[in-house]
Amino acid sequence: MGLRGNLKVPADKSMSHRAVMFGALAKGQTKVHNILLSEDVKTTIQAFQQLGLTIQLKGSDMVIEGRDFTLTQPSEALDMGNSGTTTRLIMGILAAQNFDSELKGDPSLSKRPMNRVAIPLTVMGADIRAQGVKGTLPIHITGKKLHPLDFEMPVASAQVKSALIFAALQTAGKSKITEEVPSRNHTEQMLKAFGGTISIEGKKIIIEGPQHLRGTEMTIPGDISSAAFWIAAALITPDSDILLENVGVNPTRTGILDVVKAMGGKLELLNVDDLAQTADIHVQYTETLKSVTISGDLIPRLIDEIPVIALLATQAEGETLVKDAAELKVKESDRIIALVEMLRALGADAVPTEDGLIVQGQSKLQGALVDSYGDHRLAMTAAIAGLIADGEVQFAGGEMIATSYPNFYQDMDKLCQ
Ligand code: S3P
Repeated sequence: MGLRGNLKVPADKSMSHRAVMFGALAKGQTKVHNILLSEDVKTTIQAFQQLGLTIQLKGSDMVIEGRDFTLTQPSEALDMGNSGTTTRLIMGILAAQNFDSELKGDPSLSKRPMNRVAIPLTVMGADIRAQGVKGTLPIHITGKKLHPLDFEMPVASAQVKSALIFAALQTAGKSKITEEVPSRNHTEQMLKAFGGTISIEGKKIIIEGPQHLRGTEMTIPGDISSAAFWIAAALITPDSDILLENVGVNPTRTGILDVVKAMGGKLELLNVDDLAQTADIHVQYTETLKSVTISGDLIPRLIDEIPVIALLATQAEGETLVKDAAELKVKESDRIIALVEMLRALGADAVPTEDGLIVQGQSKLQGALVDSYGDHRLAMTAAIAGLIADGEVQFAGGEMIATSYPNFYQDMDKLCQ
């Protein structure tokens, strides 16, 4: 039975985090419509409440009274839960505040590298002490007056870039960040929406601080990273025809659309709004998908979609190669190992490589008990595999899906009626 009908996917997670953060740092009131209230975004909201912010939520509308870059010292450690985005971005904010703070996280987050943010912030004069081995959480931050930075990003990471932008906004002088491979640009875009200035000269981002921002009103579009699961599901499940409404199609995020096009998938964008960077995505079952090679600059544009793209590759003709994606190892799980293990358990042919994986196509998937490694995107990939596998796909850790997609199963029921 295919997937059918229209669906409004949940709001963009990256944008929701940033809307809370910019709203907190701006002067005056910010109203955000359609904010995502997933576990990760709730982590950000709670952290800013502990930092003295008044935040009102009514359904998916949020009103926040900005503090013009002056936050209050929290009385206890800020709990970052499972959220790498909250942790890394808040480090850039707290490094320049006038107080000490402490960040802690769940076991998965406590394994993830934070040095990538701590090192450049320390070059700016920040005082950041990681208590975990390898620069991991818990982390103690003593706020300092920072000096500007001229930094070349060693990895394409919007989280690192955004942390440095938040620090630079609070620092007198011109900071420069060079990005060899572009990463998602929501921070740069939102900064402008809050009245800030940022100049982009080729690969260089220049921010002159200190800046003051003003509160604004915005509506968050649907998250293409959540839409990706239904795009893949519809492409591989016979008799599917779905319309995903009002999805964010910022070009720094649309790598999956390019991949589906290259695979020959039946996908079209309707109602494209170039200014808002949104569109409806119409997807239909595609009997013959072609294999692809995914590498280079494309990787940051689809980094979170690789699990479900790998599932898609199990149904395509030929061999799909994912390379230049070593970053997968430091996501919510080691997604190279975890993904290969999951695909193999389902009867697919996948091998890990140093910086990605190779998937042979046209496997008949079978039901199995798989490990989601407590990773929301792997759990959702397993759930989608269950739609086409022979027999039941079972996995633990389904509750982690609420990290990014609280209504995942309701939406699945809606599309699979
Ligand atoms: C995110 C950036 C990406 C992505 C993560 C969200 C963001 O991480 O994987 O889910 O909101 O900035 P990196 O910037 O570390 O690649």
